[in-house]
Amino acid sequence: MATRIDVNLPGECAYSVRIGAGILASLGRNLRGMDRFAQVRDVLVITDDNVGPLYLGKVRASLADAGFKAADIAVPAGERSKSLDVAGEIWSAMAQMALGRDCLVVALGGGVVGDLAGFVASAYMRGVPVVHVPTTLLSMVDSSVGGKTAVDLPEGKNLVGTFHQPSFVCADTDVLDTLPEREWRCGCGEIAKSAVIDSDEFFFWLMDGAASLAARDAGVTAEAIARCVVFKAGVVAQDVTETAGVRECLNYGHTLGHAIEACTGYGAFSHGECVAEGMRFAARLAADAASGMDDGSLDAFAAAQDELLAALGLPKLAHGVDAGRLMDAMRRDKKARGGRLRFVLANDVARWEVVHVPDEVVARKLKEHLA
Ligand code: GLY
Repeated sequence: MATRIDVNLPGECAYSVRIGAGILASLGRNLRGMDRFAQVRDVLVITDDNVGPLYLGKVRASLADAGFKAADIAVPAGERSKSLDVAGEIWSAMAQMALGRDCLVVALGGGVVGDLAGFVASAYMRGVPVVHVPTTLLSMVDSSVGGKTAVDLPEGKNLVGTFHQPSFVCADTDVLDTLPEREWRCGCGEIAKSAVIDSDEFFFWLMDGAASLAARDAGVTAEAIARCVVFKAGVVAQDVTETAGVRECLNYGHTLGHAIEACTGYGAFSHGECVAEGMRFAARLAADAASGMDDGSLDAFAAAQDELLAALGLPKLAHGVDAGRLMDAMRRDKKARGGRLRFVLANDVARWEVVHVPDEVVARKLKEHLA
């Protein structure tokens, strides 16, 4: 049984996210059934050389059965493919294939492929539709929904990008069977973030189901994905382009998390592990920098969040980076404004705020946290 979640964003075409086991086989039929794709012939599937050998055959067969003519491009797996050079190569290939404005791009892969393919689609002939077929837990619970696209520059990650909402998202939970353990925990980090920011109901549901999710129970996994999609769709609907101060809540744990990733060369630890560490720190920083809570409640919240993260297989991260390097990396973060550090701080479940925190406070709390 598949779950369907409709994403309705102001000023954008509504789209559906389907979540279920084995639904890749009906991708072509689902697309053909949509009015906007009834006449489409050409599809370009963008994937990578890890995912392609596993699932491209199934996707191509499903598209062909529904009368689509599909071509594909597989980029090397990994962050290095999220570049202007690779985007340029794909645009050239699309032009050489004579793909017109009536073509459709399908992103088959994790966050890197989704960001790259979304970016490519958003600019080719001033924009063609993109459909996401996420193949990692992280991309199912976060990056395939909400329309952020990006490539990296040598100067930093995600520095060039667009907002380009997908036309459809097909999250086949069967593909998670081949996901390495580290990537599983990575997705669990973002699920924990969503639960903490969303509600007591989500947080305590996840607390109860954490061991089952860590053990990859199919029912709990599908429900966790659905809950994250509903949560994210609700946030993005209030602030599609992250200008109204709402979508920023999705960056909870990311200020320190991104700094750890940058200082450890992207890849030593997964994004989700680094976000989990950022959440741990943010809960402690909130004691000094967030408003309106006494220390007792904050301690209880930080302890409950620690317990959740540990149950998801995300214990305190021994990253070995010192406070000075982390401070430098956070100052370069694109969330900083006018050189001032900004954090999403949660002082309880579902109680968050964006706070400018003075450098000396961050540095002191960081030293305490790392001790
Ligand atoms: N992953 C954060 C966002 O989509 O805004």
